[in-house]
Amino acid sequence: MTKKRSHIYLDYSATTPVDPVVTSVISEHLTTTIGNASSIHAFGRTAKVVLEESREVVANSIGAEPSELFFTSGGTEADNHAVIGAALAQQRDHGKNHIVVSSIEHHAVLHCVEYLLRSGFTASYIPVDKDGLIHTKEIEKLITRQTCLISVMHSNNEVGTIQPVGEISELAKRFGITFHSDTVQSIGKIPVNVNNLGMDLLSISAHKIYGPKGIGAIYIRKGTNLDALLHGGSQERKNRAGTENIPLIAGFAKAIELADVHRGKVFTHVSSLKSTLKKIIAQSLSGIIINGDGADALPHILNISLDSTIYDVESESLLLNMDLQGVAVSSGSACTSGSIQPSHVLNAMGRDVKTTQATIRFSFGKFTTMEEVEQAGKIFVSIVQSLPRKKGSN
Ligand SMILES: Cc1ncc(COP(=O)(O)O)c(C=O)c1O
Repeated sequence: MTKKRSHIYLDYSATTPVDPVVTSVISEHLTTTIGNASSIHAFGRTAKVVLEESREVVANSIGAEPSELFFTSGGTEADNHAVIGAALAQQRDHGKNHIVVSSIEHHAVLHCVEYLLRSGFTASYIPVDKDGLIHTKEIEKLITRQTCLISVMHSNNEVGTIQPVGEISELAKRFGITFHSDTVQSIGKIPVNVNNLGMDLLSISAHKIYGPKGIGAIYIRKGTNLDALLHGGSQERKNRAGTENIPLIAGFAKAIELADVHRGKVFTHVSSLKSTLKKIIAQSLSGIIINGDGADALPHILNISLDSTIYDVESESLLLNMDLQGVAVSSGSACTSGSIQPSHVLNAMGRDVKTTQATIRFSFGKFTTMEEVEQAGKIFVSIVQSLPRKKGSN
C-alpha cells in the first residue's frame, strides 16, 4: 500500500523546500569543489575561497564581521555551542554558574540548560504573558551576581511571538552578562542585525530559509568568552573542528542572499495568507483561540487551539485528519515516538493542558498559494465542524 502524500504543505516553520537556485549551487559545488578547505594545494585553496566568500555573505546579512561567523551543522548545534560554550567558559574563568533563560525557548536551548543543571549550574526561567511575550523587567528580577548567560529567542517557532531582543541586550550589557538569541525562525522573515539588536551570540539555520538541512551558523561577537564544543582540528579558527561542508555552506549563503533580496515581497505575501486563513477560520468556527494574536508576531505562523470546554479532540487526530485530506500542518510542539507532547510554550502562556493538546500550527512560505490556503482553511473548518461537541457547549 502506498502512503497518500500531502499535497498542500503548510509546515514551513518545521522546514522549507530548497529553492531550485540553491539546489543548483549545491549540486555544482558537489561535483566541482572537491578539495578540503584546509589543504594547501589548488583544490583546497579553491574550496577555501568558496568557504570565505560564503562566510562573508552570511555575515553581511546579519551585520557581522566575517571573522565573527562560524559554520555549524544547523541551529541545534549553534544553540548548543552558545549555551554550553558560554556557560563553561564563564564558570571556569569567573566562577559564575547561573543561567537566565526564557521558558519558551526551543528544546535545542532548554535541553542544554537541563544538561548544565546536572553539572552544577542553576537556572531561572523567564515567564511570558498570555501572548508569549517576555517583559524585560521580569528578566531583571532573575539576575544574580552568579548570572553568566541570558538566552532569549528572537521569535518563537510555535506561536511566532517576536521578543524585545534589543531591550534585553541593553539589560545584559548593563549587568555584564553574555546574551544569546536564537534567531532561527526570524532570519529571512524579519530584519536581524547584530548591531541593532546587540546580542553577543546568535544562532541561525539554513533549512528555514529555503536552504539545505544540516547547515547553520553561530555568530560570536568579538571578545565573547566562549568554549568550543568540537575538538580535533583547527577549522573555523579552532571554534568548530571538522572538515567544512562546502556545498552546503555555499547553498546556505545563496539561500540567505535570496531571502534578503525577497524578504519584503515574501513578508507581504505570507501576511496576506495568514490574514485570509484567520478570516476563513474565525468566520466559521466558535471556540477558537489564536495563540500569540495580541503581540507582534512572525507573519507566516498561525497557531490555533480549540477551546477544551467545547471540543474534545487532540492535535494528533486533527493533524492526521488534515493529512488524510492532503494538508500537511504541525502541532507546533515536539513529537516523541510518534506521540505529541503538550507544548511547553502554550503551557507558559497559561493555556490549560487540554487546550494545548488541541492545537494546530499552520505555517506558510514563498511557494504557498492563496488557493492552497483557502482550501486548507475549508478542510480544517469541515474537520472541526464534524467533531462532537461537549454537552452544554452550544
Ligand atoms: C527556534 C529554533 N531553534 C532551533 C532549531 C533547530 O534548528 P536545526 O533544525 O537547524 O537544528 C529550530 C528548528 O526547528 C527552531 O525552530
